Amino acid sequence: MKILVTGGNGYIGSHTLIQLIKSNEFEVVSIDNLSRSTRGTMDRIEKITGKHVVNHEVDLCDKEATFSVFEQEGPIDGIIHFAAYKCVPESVSKPVMYYRNNLNSLLNIMEACEKYQVPNLIFSSSCSIYGEVTQLPVTEETPAGVAACPYAHTKQIGEGMIRAFCEGKSNFNAILLRYFNPVGADMSGLNGELSPDTPNNLMPIIMETGIGKRPSMTVFGTDYNTRDGSCIRDYIHVTDIANAHVKALQFLINHKNTTNCEVFNLGSGNGISVLEMLNAFEKITGRKLNYQLGERRPGDIPAIYSNSAKAKALLDWECQYGVDEMILSAWKWQENLKD
Ligand code: WQD
Repeated sequence: MKILVTGGNGYIGSHTLIQLIKSNEFEVVSIDNLSRSTRGTMDRIEKITGKHVVNHEVDLCDKEATFSVFEQEGPIDGIIHFAAYKCVPESVSKPVMYYRNNLNSLLNIMEACEKYQVPNLIFSSSCSIYGEVTQLPVTEETPAGVAACPYAHTKQIGEGMIRAFCEGKSNFNAILLRYFNPVGADMSGLNGELSPDTPNNLMPIIMETGIGKRPSMTVFGTDYNTRDGSCIRDYIHVTDIANAHVKALQFLINHKNTTNCEVFNLGSGNGISVLEMLNAFEKITGRKLNYQLGERRPGDIPAIYSNSAKAKALLDWECQYGVDEMILSAWKWQENLKD
């Protein structure tokens, strides 16, 4: 089975390539133009798995160049589509760039599925499609809310495009995977999040502050209506997310799906607040974190966490890693980066 991973050079894409290789069931190839990642990822994957993954440095918004990869690499049994811009504040300041990149790339992938008869597509979606939720935990039946930013809106539109594409097709199957907050690094400490841009997300900022790469950090808001006033999120280890993609592929390839467009939440089901995560870091690593309590960050929602029972029941998937491993693996990766 040959699987094409778009965005394979990125954070979740690279960890998924590792788990696909470890499953010994799939041949893998990547398309990634490195616009949001750094060189060296494929070397790190080879160091961990012993396998060299070919990455085609192609912009998925360039239809001709994208199709030429399918001409070279086909036949393809499945696509996992990660490639997208995903920085929330950047999407607010540059909406057109986000809609053009995230939607045009998906359109080209969908057209390639049709032209090259690719039977399976897994789409990297996000819990941000739910918007501000009142009923917690969130299930797959929770209706999509008002997207808090253009990034989230591109995920909502992307899901709708794929649903429409699946309509009436008997030889095409899709799965939409809604990630909550992916964090951590490969347990070997040899691969992890490495963006060329300054991180916006909590975990990489905690790690950079803990190791002294940044002098301090800010807790964005402690006046929310939550147990300690700071925002609550559902953090999930990136390797658990990656394993869910392997399970999702096996689910489709073994024809276990009852509809040709299934959606699954991927979360740990545990809500953790910002302050609780900071305290957990200090307790687990023994390092003091220099942080101050600040104002709310625009666009944040108070709390969201998942009910991932559907993925457990249908995909035979559940999280293997808890907060300790999320923090320790991210810390091990941060220390490796320093060397
Ligand atoms: C988590 C909490 C911040 C930094 C977004 C996307 C989601 C996914 C992950 C792509 C919030 C607080 C953060 C800091 C802080 N993206 N925080 N100080 O916003 O929940 O989710 O990124 O897949 O789709 O929506 O994640 O890590 O940015 O923030 O207090 O220096 O940490 O305010 O409450 P978020 P995050």
